Amino acid sequence: MLDLFADAEPWEEPLADGAVVLRRFALASAPALMAGIEAVAARSPFRHMVTPGGYTMSVAMTNCGEVGWSTNLKGYLYAQVDPQTGAPWPAMPGAFRTLCDAAARAAGYPDFTPDACLINRYAPGAKLSLHQDKDEPDLRAPIVSVSLGLPAVFQFGGLKRNDPLKRLLLEHGDVVVWGGPSRLFYHGIQPLKPGQHPATGEYRYNLTFRQARK
Ligand code: SIN
Ligand code: FE2
Repeated sequence: MLDLFADAEPWEEPLADGAVVLRRFALASAPALMAGIEAVAARSPFRHMVTPGGYTMSVAMTNCGEVGWSTNLKGYLYAQVDPQTGAPWPAMPGAFRTLCDAAARAAGYPDFTPDACLINRYAPGAKLSLHQDKDEPDLRAPIVSVSLGLPAVFQFGGLKRNDPLKRLLLEHGDVVVWGGPSRLFYHGIQPLKPGQHPATGEYRYNLTFRQARK
């Protein structure tokens, strides 16, 4: 398919109070980000976590940073050690940090210093049901979310689960930042449609940068 935006500069689309989509912001860093994902996954492999309710998530996940997000029988938690390997989560690759800093700044959050990055891998059919990111103790810090590979439909709602949803297609290199008044807004990803992407093959990857400690 002819991509009319292949050479375009990134552009911004307001999403909500405190939230913005930075279209193609990560396009130039995508190869370095993909190399980072590979390096992280070589040490802390992707796995399908099981929710406290016993549901196996369709999205495969790993983490990098000082702490990583995972599930156990009691709930959701951030910890320094990968429960699957027993070793600390891999450090955040330099390219991750550089891109996240620039995106947070562009979105109006110049002081954001993430200590955790959750890496999601979506195969065809994988989805993330509507949820809030609320396991972080300091909600003044935003969430920076980077999309790589196959496109997916992102739903972004409000503070209540049944608030009206905006639906937007997130494509390779798009970055969404939400914080301030929209920090706890419900969001999710609709089931991934099968496809092939030159950078990621049959997958979509998503990086979410968080400040997970006080
Ligand atoms: C998330 O909510 O953690 C990920 C969202 C996405 O995959 O775009
Ligand atoms: Fe989330």
